[in-house]
Amino acid sequence: MAFRTLPVNLQLIALLLSLALAADNTSINSGLILLNCGGSGQYDDVDSGGRIWYGDTGSKFAPSVEGVGASASASYQDPSLPSMIPYMTARIFSSNYTYSFPVSQGRLFLRLYFYPVAYGNYAVSDAFFGVTTENLVLLNGFNASQTAQANNYAYLVREFSMNVSSRRLDLTFSPSTFLNGSYAFINGIEIVPTPNIFTTADTTFVYGDYIAPFSFAADKGFQTMYQLNVGGQAISPKDDTGFYRSWDVDSPYIYGAGYGVTHSKDPSVTIMYTPTVPNYTAPVDVYGTARSMGPVQQFNLNYNLTWILPVDAGFTYLLRFHFCEIQSTFTKVNQRSFYIYINNQTAQEDMDVILLSGGTGTTAYREYFIMASGFGQVDMWIALSPDISTNPQYYDAILNGLEVFKLQDSSRNLAGLNPPTLQNPDIDPNRLSSGTRKSKGDIPARATIIGGGVAVLLITFFSTCVIYRWNKVAKSCHKTDCGPNGRLKSRHFSLAEIQLATNNFDQALIIGRGGFGNVYSGEIDGGIKVAIKRLKQGSQQGFHEFHTEIGMLCNFRHGHLVSLIGYCKDKNEMILVYDYMPHGTLRDHLYGTRNPSLSWKQRLNICIGAARGLHYLHTGTEQGIIHRDVKTTNILLDDRLMAKVSDFGLSKACTDSDKAHVSTAVKGSFGYFDPEYFLLRRLTKKSDVYSFGVVLFEILCARPVINTELPDEQVSLRDWALSCQDTGVLKQIVDPCIKEEITPECFRIFSELAVKCVSDRSIDRPSMGDVLQNLEAALRLQDNRSCAGDPSSLQVIGLVHSDKASTHSVLSVAAQEEIFSDIIHLEGR
Ligand SMILES: *[C@@H]1O[C@H](CO)[C@@H](O)[C@H](O)[C@H]1NC(C)=O
Ligand SMILES: *[C@@H]1O[C@H](CO)[C@@H](O)[C@H](O)[C@H]1NC(C)=O
Ligand SMILES: *[C@@H]1O[C@H](CO)[C@@H](O)[C@H](O)[C@H]1NC(C)=O
Ligand SMILES: *[C@@H]1O[C@H](CO)[C@@H](O)[C@H](O)[C@H]1NC(C)=O
Ligand SMILES: *[C@@H]1O[C@H](CO)[C@@H](O)[C@H](O)[C@H]1NC(C)=O
Ligand SMILES: *[C@@H]1O[C@H](CO)[C@@H](O)[C@H](O)[C@H]1NC(C)=O
Ligand SMILES: *[C@@H]1O[C@H](CO)[C@@H](O)[C@H](O)[C@H]1NC(C)=O
Ligand SMILES: *[C@@H]1O[C@H](CO)[C@@H](O)[C@H](O)[C@H]1NC(C)=O
Repeated sequence: MAFRTLPVNLQLIALLLSLALAADNTSINSGLILLNCGGSGQYDDVDSGGRIWYGDTGSKFAPSVEGVGASASASYQDPSLPSMIPYMTARIFSSNYTYSFPVSQGRLFLRLYFYPVAYGNYAVSDAFFGVTTENLVLLNGFNASQTAQANNYAYLVREFSMNVSSRRLDLTFSPSTFLNGSYAFINGIEIVPTPNIFTTADTTFVYGDYIAPFSFAADKGFQTMYQLNVGGQAISPKDDTGFYRSWDVDSPYIYGAGYGVTHSKDPSVTIMYTPTVPNYTAPVDVYGTARSMGPVQQFNLNYNLTWILPVDAGFTYLLRFHFCEIQSTFTKVNQRSFYIYINNQTAQEDMDVILLSGGTGTTAYREYFIMASGFGQVDMWIALSPDISTNPQYYDAILNGLEVFKLQDSSRNLAGLNPPTLQNPDIDPNRLSSGTRKSKGDIPARATIIGGGVAVLLITFFSTCVIYRWNKVAKSCHKTDCGPNGRLKSRHFSLAEIQLATNNFDQALIIGRGGFGNVYSGEIDGGIKVAIKRLKQGSQQGFHEFHTEIGMLCNFRHGHLVSLIGYCKDKNEMILVYDYMPHGTLRDHLYGTRNPSLSWKQRLNICIGAARGLHYLHTGTEQGIIHRDVKTTNILLDDRLMAKVSDFGLSKACTDSDKAHVSTAVKGSFGYFDPEYFLLRRLTKKSDVYSFGVVLFEILCARPVINTELPDEQVSLRDWALSCQDTGVLKQIVDPCIKEEITPECFRIFSELAVKCVSDRSIDRPSMGDVLQNLEAALRLQDNRSCAGDPSSLQVIGLVHSDKASTHSVLSVAAQEEIFSDIIHLEGR
């Protein structure tokens, strides 16, 4: 009986009567599970295929502990809901709850149904939560109503595919810890076992104009972003090949006026599946309809048939293109041959469907991987155009179906940011009428937040140095060592929230000032302390740095890099919200401060921490990132005096080769500049090493790197330290507070390391990895005075014991000052 056809009072009775039936039929033989969360009894979703859903109330899946996971009814029934089941009831969690489902090992689809409205006393705006399995973060900081609004739907279905290795699937709902009073909710959970549908060998990674074979692990999890029946009708779950996917029309995503023409298969053509494309791959109707460019050859040469699909930046995507020739005129090879472009890059030349499939009516697909870079939501461009290099009979292209899947990243995360809630009045709502299930991105043709997504896979033979725009590389790789916990990528704050947090930018809360603007301490979410950096408005420079910083921090998570909690872009503000570092900057613990002096061992540990952070920046991605502004005020200390590198506004990506450099306008901080950088405008990772060497001297001697009140030869700490080292009196300028503590061996390694780091020529400087090893050796020698002769530490020392570099400065301090006085004023850093 259909639930929705009952009058309300009868529904109640029905609920009670069927309570007893709500047994464990959910785990029936086929492994299919349809759980109507917060509901009771068994009802079908009349308009969405008539499948039976089982209420979780009273079942073994529902929480048994009193007070955990209330069941609730929706306050309002949106007319666009496809059926009442499973949307009109929900289970609400104010604390973490884990559903545990019996499943068979292997791949399955997990679908989560969300209908964001008020439930009883639970306001819709307080729903803010994450969903995880044991191995994957599916949603994080998820705002269902924001996501639904952005997509113009009343409800959402998120579809994930995962390969489960145990016989159980644990699904945890956890209210966000970032928002006091937040809750999690879920309306329906669907589990559909599938065969191994995602492990084809013949896939390609698209990178620039190069493509490379690519395979991905069979156990990867991913999220369905789009499933399009190109040139055809929407296909509802019940008409899918048994996996209950819904296939949507593609026309809302077509870019510009070039819609091409749609076709259905000629009656004489029979769709034939093959052993490599089994019949469950996609329904007959996906292959039986198509879109091609059109009959006018000359016109086809002058446009691209283009789809724009918004996706979450920072993930790799699997794109599956389904092909089938369905017109009886297309039977031979080289009748049409075309290019496939993904994000303006050539993914495929000379695509010939007959050649690929083997004949008219025979199904085929090709897969490509691409990395979407940028920030937030970005547009993925898919385009087809004739490839006339083989002189085909027709200048045309064809596509039957397109699937886009987001792959889990290296931190086992699938969660993107909530989409911005912009409405585009130019969009004809009728074009969005069908298909409502996926995590559809935003309306097509909506502006991206920053720049386009461009895939960058670093392939070893691309070692030439290129000047990249940061947004093309910032997302280049997800090789992070930030552990398996997906984190909130970064949260968007409203200006009102920031004003509240900082008492409307109260001067008394300023904890730092600079050319960029002020840093305030503040409190969010009812008591969590944060540092809030408000960039000066309007400057192009600031704008660039703002986005660089967000991009960097979202991509590079590391225990020794300061973490970004969120940002605010309202009303032209550029505000960044970071973890609060209770101990402030390293400089504040060295000189000109009332803070107690740090011990030598504390200082060594801070050096090691900072070196780790920088080493990670340099090597954590294939290309590496140059910080460009290493100094003691950019090394922050947390509550345990652990160092965290901050301020990535100037950071730049570079290629891995040490010879490689980025030529660029000089930026950075006076006193820490790499001379090679300002003479030759050559920025390399060794520029960071140089600055870090200056930091090492600063820590050792506890004095400013430039002090113009001192006699000329002492003004520059680096020059002065080098000349003291030359004459063997370096120990005399060491901070008196630590002079006694520091062991001679440790001092020797540390000072030699610092000297090496500030070598004039970058080639003479150690790498950040060498720096780190030597600092660790120095700590060992400090810790264990007896092991001075330990061969392992000597070996490490050997790394920096190459021939002695010149210790003469390229420029005098006065000359440096002249060159940089304008920069100091401009940057104020
Ligand atoms: C549910 O399972 C019970 C026994 O496990 C069975 O008697 C009942 O017919 C099943 N109901 C449905 C709708 O499959
Ligand atoms: C979720 O989004 C809605 C709509 O944009 C907004 O009103 C609400 O405050 C958001 N909730 C949270 C917790 O961010
Ligand atoms: C709830 O789950 C989240 C994410 O899995 C976790 O970070 C948090 O610590 C959990 N909270 C409690 C109280 O267990
Ligand atoms: C699941 O992953 C395992 C490896 O962990 C692989 O052998 C198996 O083929 C995968 N199964 C599916 C259905 O993808
Ligand atoms: C797929 O083919 C199998 C036999 O190979 C058949 O049993 C099944 O019904 C077919 N499924 C569909 C959706 O056509
Ligand atoms: C592709 O090129 C078009 C036009 O040149 C441009 O507008 C768009 O942003 C590009 N897309 C990407 C993803 O780079
Ligand atoms: C089609 O797209 C490709 C890749 O972006 C571009 O190089 C080409 O110029 C486009 N062709 C036309 C006719 O717009
Ligand atoms: C959450 O808010 C309530 C009332 O608004 C307050 O009493 C409580 O201390 C807050 N909890 C936290 C962790 O801030």
